[in-house]
Amino acid sequence: MTTKHLIALILGGLIISAAVASDVISERESGFKASKRAVATIKDALADGNMTTVAASAKTMAEFAERIPSLFPAGSKGGFFSAAKEDIWRNFPDFVQKSKNFQSNAQELATLASSPSPDKAAVSAAFAKVTENCKTCHQPYKKGW
Ligand code: HEC
Repeated sequence: MTTKHLIALILGGLIISAAVASDVISERESGFKASKRAVATIKDALADGNMTTVAASAKTMAEFAERIPSLFPAGSKGGFFSAAKEDIWRNFPDFVQKSKNFQSNAQELATLASSPSPDKAAVSAAFAKVTENCKTCHQPYKKGW
């Protein structure tokens, strides 16, 4: 193989890995944005006593939460504007655990809200737990929070 070929191969690899990374980055960005909207939707729905909406939004969050670890493959920190901290990959098992807590709390909220006669206090408490997960993970792993 000539040097030229080698360089082309390396560049090609870099371009491919950058493309893969930007895919997961945009997917996680839109997932987190959707979670932020889901939190606002749930807040309003709780005030209206609309448990169907609470359950649906919580379920969306739980589904996204389950995907979080796979949306942070090694080397997907992103560019200058990325809010992902390097500590995610230094501490990956902890990051995965925090994703799991988020997933199970969001799932618990969905389950409580979709029970035949939802207990409003229990649903509100479960919602508070979900929003606690956002802070618990952002504090060590996201810049600017
Ligand atoms: C397990 C960790 C974790 C949990 C739980 C978590 N986040 Fe995040 N969040 C992150 C990380 C890391 C980023 C930065 C991602 C990046 O920039 O690539 C982020 C980014 C965001 C962003 C910015 C998205 C963008 O690019 O514009 C919003 C909004 C957000 N999170 C909302 C939430 C909300 C709301 C919750 C809870 C309902 C939540 N997050 C739970 C880790 C988490």
